[in-house]
Amino acid sequence: IGKAFKNQFIIPDFIQFTEQIHDIYEICKNDRRGKPADYIPQLARANPDNWGVALCTVDGQRYSAGDTTIPFCIQSCSKPLNYALALTDMGAEKVHSYVGQEPSGRSFNEICLDSSNKPHNPMINAGAIITSSLLKPTLRIADRFDYVHSQYKRIAGGEFVGFSNATYLSEKETADRNFSLAYYMRENKCFPENADLVKTLEFYFQLCSVEITAETGAVIAATLANGGICPTTGEKVLTGDAVRNTLSLMYSCGMYDYSGQFAFKCGLPAKSGVAGAILIVVPNVMGVCTWAPSLDELGNSCRGITFCKELVNKFSFHNY
Ligand code: DON
Repeated sequence: IGKAFKNQFIIPDFIQFTEQIHDIYEICKNDRRGKPADYIPQLARANPDNWGVALCTVDGQRYSAGDTTIPFCIQSCSKPLNYALALTDMGAEKVHSYVGQEPSGRSFNEICLDSSNKPHNPMINAGAIITSSLLKPTLRIADRFDYVHSQYKRIAGGEFVGFSNATYLSEKETADRNFSLAYYMRENKCFPENADLVKTLEFYFQLCSVEITAETGAVIAATLANGGICPTTGEKVLTGDAVRNTLSLMYSCGMYDYSGQFAFKCGLPAKSGVAGAILIVVPNVMGVCTWAPSLDELGNSCRGITFCKELVNKFSFHNY
């Protein structure tokens, strides 16, 4: 409130800013390319007309356009959060004794390890399965889920964080590739001692099946933009180092096989998920979440990518 009286907001003319965001939102609505993921019925049944954009600044100003209160599965947008939680919990040295920092140059679910027999980075499936195994490994599996769920909720300032059991069951049923990855990694001694392969995979599927809304996603991205302090609650939920490392890897590895081009063209840390969400971080300014289920051939939301391109076209948010 003090900032409001002194007009010291990070985006001073917020009304004018949001009018321009709304214009971009409308432009993207005309993008009818792509189709929803169809490897499980819960995603195949998505409504391709759904389109939402929500943003939250580092000083807590909010704006939403379109379908921003409809729950969807977080899917791979859980990967940076799990990585940030593992870093906050045990530090970078320990986490990176199990997972690398290099873009893989391969598809997100490819069976391959780097030259030191680690998955390339925490943003691909192999790396995310490993970071899942690092989250509170001494707790019982149900308590591990409760722990991560409660941490997501703190990162999201207490906003909606649900769970789709149907998605979890479908993920588990269609997980041959993820099982193959895990067995391959177990053979190569990638897991910490005592990690249970099946329980770790089930935990990973559960974390992909957590539901958020675009509004929740905007606060999550804003916490990452704000060095780990949730802008809506003022609570420090992630360490500054964890956030810096997470944003670095979102920047280089967050957008599947489009990561290099996305870094070049948009210049922002971002992470997309197969349900059509993109978490976009403008460091020290704001977090944005876009959601539109239709994906391009690389697995990124078509409208979400168009939004990011228009955003950096209109504003000087590109890192360079
Ligand atoms: O593990 C899977 O195949 C999916 N549940 C992950 C979804 C996703 O968004 C793809 N990620 N990189």
